[in-house]
Amino acid sequence: MCSIIGIVGDSPVVHRLLDALGRLEYRGYDSAGISVTNPAINLGDTGNFLTWRSVGRVKELSKKIDLSCKSTVGIGHTRWATHGKPTERNAHPHTDGFLSVVHNGIIENFSELKTELIQSGIVFQSDTDTEVLVHLLSKYIKKARNLYEANSAAEATKSPDDIRRTILNDAIQNVLKKICGSFAFAALCSDFPETILAARSTSCPLAVGKGINEFIVCSDAFGMAGLSSELHYLDDYTYAIVSRRNLSVFGFGGEKASTRFYANPFKQESSKPEEQTHYMLKEIHEQPLVIQRLLDKVASEREIYDISSEVILDAINGLTLTACGTAFYACMIGRYFLQTVAGIRTDIELASEFQSAQISARDDNRPVLAVSQSGETADTIKALAYAKERGQKIFSIVNVPQSSLARMSHKVFYTHAGPEVGVATTKAFTAQVFVLLSMAIEFSKKNYVNFPSEALPSRDDFRKVVGYMTKTLSLDSQSIDISNSLFRHAKNILYIGRGLNYYMCLEGALKMKEISYIHAEGVAAGELKHGPIALIEDGTPVVVLAPFDDLFAKTMSNMQEVAARGAKVVLITDEIGMKHVDQSIVHSAVMLPHTHKLLTPLICAIPMQLFAYYTALARGCDIDKPRNLAKSVTVE
Ligand code: M6R
Repeated sequence: MCSIIGIVGDSPVVHRLLDALGRLEYRGYDSAGISVTNPAINLGDTGNFLTWRSVGRVKELSKKIDLSCKSTVGIGHTRWATHGKPTERNAHPHTDGFLSVVHNGIIENFSELKTELIQSGIVFQSDTDTEVLVHLLSKYIKKARNLYEANSAAEATKSPDDIRRTILNDAIQNVLKKICGSFAFAALCSDFPETILAARSTSCPLAVGKGINEFIVCSDAFGMAGLSSELHYLDDYTYAIVSRRNLSVFGFGGEKASTRFYANPFKQESSKPEEQTHYMLKEIHEQPLVIQRLLDKVASEREIYDISSEVILDAINGLTLTACGTAFYACMIGRYFLQTVAGIRTDIELASEFQSAQISARDDNRPVLAVSQSGETADTIKALAYAKERGQKIFSIVNVPQSSLARMSHKVFYTHAGPEVGVATTKAFTAQVFVLLSMAIEFSKKNYVNFPSEALPSRDDFRKVVGYMTKTLSLDSQSIDISNSLFRHAKNILYIGRGLNYYMCLEGALKMKEISYIHAEGVAAGELKHGPIALIEDGTPVVVLAPFDDLFAKTMSNMQEVAARGAKVVLITDEIGMKHVDQSIVHSAVMLPHTHKLLTPLICAIPMQLFAYYTALARGCDIDKPRNLAKSVTVE
């Protein structure tokens, strides 16, 4: 969840660290900080980093920093608190003067280590697990240095570079033996002011990018946009010793590891939205373009969602989908597509529950397909790793190229939605739905199912849906009115629907709660009477999602039930549905273009997203960076 950046080079780093942290802020934004080696002071054991830390956003940090600082080596961090409140004392970098560390993830045995360190006389300055890293690295680097100095006569022929590597290798291997958990970190050391030491175990990504006369260490490719055009992703359980012109990578045991550089897909920074607007709104409006791009790809590169390779054809016998949050709702929709269109037995499992659920299914060797925007969600990575260990084939639908999930999968299907910055995912979701539908259609061809081909969306349906999405976006004045007049003051909002629309209700409610902080719940309309209807009081807003389909009439009955109990009904339907509605019980309605049933999620997502967006806007919430959340959730 936190992000890490480090630069070791020839040119001043302060501005560039701040810029990178601004891009990385989507991974956590409780507090931020940077440390640079101080060019004005001779480094030694006594404290010679310049470190600035601040609670809140990177813009708060930038107010504190000496922007004229000429240091060419530094590290930075944005935090999403795990251990210790989001205060300045808990903000990273953590330093004891000799060493400065930024860290993402969790040192699981930190409490035993902390006790040992306290017993040895160390006084802790923060409540974080990170601080044990500082003291351990300090201790082992000093120990390795002393050992080296004691043997210096025998080692007299070594170059300064060899000495540096010997000491750092020795120290870090000792530290890595002592700590456990999923983590990534980067450290500066006074003894070696032109070196960054970086390591990762598992789940927390870390990459090293090549710049001009410099190397950059960073938790993701987006953070390095404009800094590096080529990057190497550190494999699980590897560490790197990085200097201006040298990168050496090793396994945790000290064995040399190879490097493989990929092009950074984020060469240019994603353009910032206009003043006063948000990435989320920009990304909502990009959806027709994203779907058009995917349609073009399907037309021009037929193999894009090709499932004919042996690995994926295994899935014909059944498939398990796994993901978290919104991507999990895409899986629910995907299951519907795969089962109805392609006749494939499909299970879905929350990634965070995957392992517990699968333990009881020991013989299950069906392939697993993970869905993720970032490709870095720790729970999803763990689920796939578990399946891979059991010998299952693993596939993924991912947005971020070369992300951890993409790299570990036997086959990846990209969503090509472009960088998504708003914490609430929008365009990545509709792209996931599109890819799952395209895969289901491909599977149905291979599986010779009896799903009548005329029941599939035609080319024309697909082509038209892009226009329908654009048309739906133009209805935003209705969403603004409903959000301002009704949702804005609500304590509770229910979303009801059936079939595909139920899954969309879950997604609509998640969008609303995560950015507006209003409690919202998606309910299968038929389940209302089994409990949730008790929540309805006079004036409770209920969003009824019911484009005209085979389930429409039943949903209309449920709409009557909630209206009879005082609910204010907000109906989302289409032109045909509108003709069949008892308008007298509807408080407000949004009328969408009518489309093929399997394409409705692409259109219905839009009013749901706009409701959440405009409600959050009316309530003055921080839309792109909602409280307590981060874009990539890299802790379990
Ligand atoms: O990057 P991922 O798609 O793996 O992320 C999964 C969830 O964390 C994510 O969808 C989350 O629920 C969003 N904030 C929802 O808008």
